[in-house]
Parts: sequence; C-alpha cells; structure tokens
Amino acid sequence: MKRVRKAVLPVAGLGTRMLPAAKTVPKEMLTVVDRPLIHHVLAEARASGIEHFVLVTGRGKGAMENYFDHHVELEATLAAKKKTAILEELMADLPTAGEISYVRQMEPKGLGHAVWCARDIIGDEPFAVLLPDMIMDATPTATAQAISAFEQTEGGNIIVVEPCPPGMAHQYGIVALDGQDGRLNRMTGMVEKPAPGTEPSNLFISGRYVLDPAIFRVLETVERGAGGEIQLTDAMAKLMAIQPFYALEYEGATYDCGDKIGWLRANVALALKRPDLGEAACAALAPLFSA
Ligand code: G1P
Repeated sequence: MKRVRKAVLPVAGLGTRMLPAAKTVPKEMLTVVDRPLIHHVLAEARASGIEHFVLVTGRGKGAMENYFDHHVELEATLAAKKKTAILEELMADLPTAGEISYVRQMEPKGLGHAVWCARDIIGDEPFAVLLPDMIMDATPTATAQAISAFEQTEGGNIIVVEPCPPGMAHQYGIVALDGQDGRLNRMTGMVEKPAPGTEPSNLFISGRYVLDPAIFRVLETVERGAGGEIQLTDAMAKLMAIQPFYALEYEGATYDCGDKIGWLRANVALALKRPDLGEAACAALAPLFSA
C-alpha cells in the first residue's frame, strides 16, 4: 500500500460568502488570529506527514505564492535587528523549494474540477485533500486521523465527517452509512447539497479526504451537479461502485471560515487557546459578552 505523501489544497474559490473582503484579498489569505487561513491549513497538512502541497489556484490568488516564499528584505531586516523570535516564526512553516506546486484551475468549474487539475502532480498514489475554508483544530490533526484510518482500512477512501448543525445540511455534502459502530464506518452513499428534509444522515463532509487516484478518471466523466459545478462528491459517489469509502467521525473542533460567523468563532477560539495571547484575549473579550 502506498503512503499518503501529497495533498491538494483547492484555493481557487471566489469566496462570495466573505465579500466584500474577498473582493481583492483571497479568502484563504484572511487572517485567523495572526496568520492567514491557508497557513493554518498547510501547517495541518505538514503536521500530518504530508511532504508535497499542491495548491489549485485561480485569478487573483497570487498573494499566496508570495506568502509561501522568502521575503528577502524583510528577513534581512529582522535578522539585522536581531528579532530572532519573529524571524523563526516566519520561517517555521515555510515550504522548502520543491515542496509546493501551484496549478491554475483557469475556470471556476467547481471543487471536483479543481481537484482534477492536480492529477499530473499527484500521479498514481493516494493523496489527501484539505479544504482551506475549514480550520479543524485537533490533536492528532484531522488529516492525520484520516491517514491513520486509511492505514487501518488498508486502502480505499476516507472522508472526514461530523454531525451537521441543525438546518445546515443543504449547504454541505452529506453521507449515508451502512450502520454505525464507532467512529469509522463504511459508506453506502453521499449527496451534495441535498434539498432540505432529504438528507440521508446528519453527518456532513467537513473538508478532509484521503482519496485513491482512481478519482481522477471518474472526475473526467462526471457531469455538472449541484450549483452547475463539477462536484467532488458526485465523483466519489460514482467511484463508490468499485471502491470502498469510509466515513471517519474525527475528534476535534471545526470552524467553517468560509462563513462570517465561523471565521469569527475561529478567531476567538484560537486566540483564547494561544499561550501568548489567551489571557489577554479573554480579558479583552469578556466585557463584550456581559454588556
Ligand atoms: C464543499 C464540498 C462539500 C463539503 C463542504 C465543506 O462544498 O463540496 O461536500 O461539505 O465543502 O465545507 P462548498 O463549501 O465548496 O460549497
């Protein structure tokens, strides 16, 4: 069984739920505490053992390429001023040369199409997908939990899921299970953005996957689905006819940062957890809630 070494991070989305900010700042570059969303998600991939990051980008997303590159003047200035702590922090999650690839999606045809754009860089090996809208705060990381499940099932495909907040199922992909015993269960189906009241379970696809490369061949033929887009969920549902899919209910806290309230929650929750900021953040925020 091949090891999961590469991850696809689809970052071409328009971010309409985060307008007007996302008009000129890629939504993945919006900060959560003191670093962009994409930094949190790439750090999760790295902490999960991923060795190569494939960012599927689009028009107006160039800021991310600069972010994951050296800023020679800034680094020289910080070094000259002996600001070593911040310099070290700046370097800590920086990919080294050759660890990160960018591929342009060129047309906003949906998540499935975005993942398909990475096919040549991924090649013939299982790979992870991390949706950068989602901050998944967990130890081990959500992606590491998915990779462990993949090793446990000796292949197949793993989709990280979690209980859907009431009334929200129509915004997500929802899975159907073949009974439920523990956190890892064989799936029998999945549907993207089901009409209210038709969802097959209360478990939604929360943005981390380990997929077999056979998905690329399916993505080539899958028709446009929900929202007129080529959906990853539709391709996975098709692949399920010939390959096993497992839903993993991961242990951790998810923040949907593609949404204003989710993004705000992530900022507050992660600031409160930070050893260097938590106490001050708590003192500053508490009066807002008692008002
Ligand atoms: C995508 C997936 C969906 C998943 C969601 C999680 O939808 O297609 O299955 O539940 O991400 O955020 P999107 O947010 O692109 O509409």
